Amino acid sequence: MSPTRQSGTSNPPPRKILVLGATSGIAEATCRIWATQGASLFLVARNAEKLAAVAADLRTRGASYVDTAVADLDDTDTHAELLAQAVNSLTGMDIAYLAHGILGDQAEAEQDFNAAAQIIYTNFMAPVSLLTWLANFCVQRHAGTLAVISSVAGDRGRKSNYLYGSSKAGLSAFLAGLRNRVDREGVHVLSIKPGPTRTAMTAAMPNSEKFADVDSVAESIVSAIDKRKDILYVPFQWQPIMFVIRNIPERIFKKLNL
Ligand SMILES: NC(=O)c1ccc[n+]([C@@H]2O[C@H](COP(=O)([O-])OP(=O)(O)OC[C@H]3O[C@@H](n4cnc5c(N)ncnc54)[C@H](OP(=O)(O)O)[C@@H]3O)[C@@H](O)[C@H]2O)c1
Repeated sequence: MSPTRQSGTSNPPPRKILVLGATSGIAEATCRIWATQGASLFLVARNAEKLAAVAADLRTRGASYVDTAVADLDDTDTHAELLAQAVNSLTGMDIAYLAHGILGDQAEAEQDFNAAAQIIYTNFMAPVSLLTWLANFCVQRHAGTLAVISSVAGDRGRKSNYLYGSSKAGLSAFLAGLRNRVDREGVHVLSIKPGPTRTAMTAAMPNSEKFADVDSVAESIVSAIDKRKDILYVPFQWQPIMFVIRNIPERIFKKLNL
């Protein structure tokens, strides 16, 4: 798809942002904010029709540049080419935002290793592949932000979703180590840990209407990137909640229905 340029407001200065999993509910809401700031966006998603709709919407909201690529991010062999295409199109990159992920089916994954492996691959292996390339790109330039959506579910394994949770735990640990490596090179790594948020991923869950609003989650993400935070729990109350959950003794935790 050919890029289009439009004028937009610039507060803060327009930035060059790569979004992986751009049709995700949380990513779309975040991009709407960046579009009104006049950002340049390179959007990657696997569903061409949804991606075109998101790109068109962001152009009308004031993005100064929008380009897109259709890709299944499980296809790690294509990552280097895809990412090079993105930074060429943007003529640089200030922020890479990784938002793709799957919840998977916990019950199926308990019985079928292939279902378990799919969750681990999409949520952990694919981001590790993307971040390896992106971190080295940023380290060479001593600049850039890598903002990655993990989850509160990664803070402690629970019987109701430990395949998803362990994929996010691996991602959170990878991000902590990556931050420890690249912070001294001037590269910012933000681990984003949302609690339950109203998106397509959670639409079928009981009480999902009480989950966090995606636009306020997106506002917190934009602000945490601007403030160069290390870890964002969003909404904020998930930080003390997860502190308590992480510290419940295992002999008690194993008896709970969580
Ligand atoms: N919603 C929550 O309560 C919550 C809480 C904590 C963390 N998170 C995390 O937040 C991130 C965004 O999720 P969301 O809530 O916005 O859910 P969502 O709307 O379902 O978004 C998930 C996105 O990931 C994309 N995706 C999945 N596998 C992909 C692949 N192999 N290649 C390319 N794209 C792929 C999906 O594409 P398709 O549309 O084509 O399927 C979809 O756009 C995820 O990492 C999720 O784990 C969500």
